[in-house]
Amino acid sequence: MVIERNTSQVKKIIAKAKNKKLLVGFVPTMGALHPGHLSLVKEAKKKCGFVVVSIFVNPIQFGPKEDFSSYPRDFRNDEKLLRSEGVDLIFYPDCRNMYKEGFSTFVEEKRLSRFLCGQARPGHFKGVCTVLVKLFNIVSPDIAYLGSKDYQQAQIVKKMAADLDFSLKIKVLPIVREKNGLAMSSRNAYLSREEKDQAGCLYRALITAKKLVAAGETMSPKIITAIRRIILSEKHIRVDYIRIVDATTLENKSRVKGKVLVALAVYISGVRLIDNIVLNGKKVNAGKVHSRLSRQKGRK
Ligand code: PAJ
Repeated sequence: MVIERNTSQVKKIIAKAKNKKLLVGFVPTMGALHPGHLSLVKEAKKKCGFVVVSIFVNPIQFGPKEDFSSYPRDFRNDEKLLRSEGVDLIFYPDCRNMYKEGFSTFVEEKRLSRFLCGQARPGHFKGVCTVLVKLFNIVSPDIAYLGSKDYQQAQIVKKMAADLDFSLKIKVLPIVREKNGLAMSSRNAYLSREEKDQAGCLYRALITAKKLVAAGETMSPKIITAIRRIILSEKHIRVDYIRIVDATTLENKSRVKGKVLVALAVYISGVRLIDNIVLNGKKVNAGKVHSRLSRQKGRK
């Protein structure tokens, strides 16, 4: 496994792999790796002959009052984990090289970024898109692997790649969870044992939403109230948002119809956690609705 900090060296190494006709798989990360990240790496290893992982805590996706300086960093452990997964190259760039003096070009997706975390963290997705455009240009992967833990991020990156004609595939993989359902996240390192136990309520709330929908509930406000009640039954939790949105456009849905995303963001003792679940509400068959309405009209 090669560890490289230098951008032109990385380009050279990848060009060699491409000359050998190897498929290049890429997993962008901010490090402090856990089994969620490793699930992406394992999938990349299955499909690709050359697997690149980047580790870069990207300053421009953090707001001024957010946790950039305290974000967990543990390169030695990350290196060990990636070596045992058989990764070919770690790209571990230096901040001063990624954003050289006078850096002034940014990439912004303007539709999907208006909602959910985009609303709560202004400028966050602009930072994500900008760093990923740079990373995609440097690594030129055939396939990039992202997690649906950050569902909105994955949708935005797919949209950006399509809008800007990137010729890469984007694979989005399921959320890896702790035993109590807590979605794995580098930020869980900030939580005590007790807080992690408490945070299990997020998954319980999402599963309750799933059950309500399976039982035929379609009114989003009712589902959101049930979720809020479960979450607020735990101490020291503050809700940032709980939304039910169209799984593609991310726009609010007042009724659960077709594919929806139930997304939430909370603070537990000041630590921001996000989670989500995709649900398939029963499609209302337009024909049936029409004939039911006509029958009702006939009766009147
Ligand atoms: P980071 O939070 O390190 O996550 C890197 C990738 O791992 C993302 O695609 C994320 O969705 C995925 N991931 C994190 N936790 C996961 C889990 N529990 N199950 C499955 N996948 C999980 O997301 C970022 O970094 C950054 O925004 C980045 C894309 C690297 C740009 O800086």
